[in-house]
Amino acid sequence: MDASDFERISFAGLDHSATSRSSPAPALLMCEPAHFGVTYSINPWMDPASWARDDRVHAAAARREWTAFHRVLTRLGAAIELIPAVPGLPDLVFTANAALVLDRTALLARFRHPERQAEESHVAAAFRVLQARGIVDDVVALPDGVVLEGAGDCVWDATRQLFWMGYGPRSSLAARAAATEIFGVDVVALELADPRFYHMDTALSALPGGEVMYVPGAFTAAGRAAIHERVTPAQRLKIGDDDASRLAANTVAIGNTLVMSACSRRLRATLRERGYRVATTSLASFQRSGGSAFCLTLRLDRRSARREMRQIAAA
Ligand code: ARG
Repeated sequence: MDASDFERISFAGLDHSATSRSSPAPALLMCEPAHFGVTYSINPWMDPASWARDDRVHAAAARREWTAFHRVLTRLGAAIELIPAVPGLPDLVFTANAALVLDRTALLARFRHPERQAEESHVAAAFRVLQARGIVDDVVALPDGVVLEGAGDCVWDATRQLFWMGYGPRSSLAARAAATEIFGVDVVALELADPRFYHMDTALSALPGGEVMYVPGAFTAAGRAAIHERVTPAQRLKIGDDDASRLAANTVAIGNTLVMSACSRRLRATLRERGYRVATTSLASFQRSGGSAFCLTLRLDRRSARREMRQIAAA
C-alpha cells in the first residue's frame, strides 16, 4: 500500500461494534509473507517467470502490503494470531485455505496440488498450538480422499446459518457431506465455472447485513440458481468485471467495514448505501498469486446460532 492509499482510509468515526464489550474482538489467523513468492503455477493468475524477473521488488512490495493490511485489521479491532512462515511454502500466507473453523472446531484442509499439500503438516502443528492455548477445542481431519481447501472454498453465511461451498477446481463435492456431518449446519455446494475464480472466496462474500456479493459468471447456471433460491433479489450484489478482476469479492468484514484490495466507485457507492464502509489497501502483489484480502485471513471465532443457544441454555 502506498501512502496515498493509506491516507484514503479514514479511521475517524469508525464503528467500534466489533470491539464492544458484548461482542469480543474478531479473531483472525494470518501468516507473515516472509517466504511468499510466485514460484509455481496452480491457477491462471500465477506467472512464476514474470515474478522471477523482479522477485526482490515484488517480495518487498508484498511485505509492505501485508504489513499495511495487518495494521488496518488491527485498527479495526481484530485480534490476530500468526502461524509461522516456512521457507519453500510461498502460499502458506493464504491462511483462509488452512482450515475451516466454526464453533471452536477446526477442520484441517486437504489440498488438491502437491505444491500446497506440503503445508498440511505445518497447519496441523499450528492448530495444535491454538488448541493448547484454548482458542479452538477440536482439530479434526477430513475423510480419506476428500479434498477441501478450507474457508477458501467454504464461506460462512451468518445470516442464513449455512456454508456456501465452492467445488470443482480445488475442493471436491464429497467435502459437502463431511462438512455437514462435522459442523451440523447446511452446506450449499456451488460448482465453479471460471478458472480465474478457482476458489469460491475469490467470487463470493456473505456480508454481515445479509447481502451476498458475488461474481455471477464464476458459477454454473445450477450454482446461480442455488444462490437465487436462498438470497432475495434485494440481497444480491452482483460484481461487475472491473471489480471481479481486482478480486473485490475477496473481502474481510470487520463490523460494518469491508476491507479489500480495490473497489470501483460504483461498488463503493452501492456498499455505502447499504451501510458499509469500504477500506481499500492494495494487495496487488498477492493478486499475482491469485489471492487477496479474504485469502490472507482465517476467522477463528465464528459461532453458529445453534451453538450460541446451547451456551445460553447451559449458563
Ligand atoms: N496461489 C494460491 C493458490 O493457488 C492462492 C490461494 C488464494 N487463496 C484463496 N483462499 N483464494 O492456491
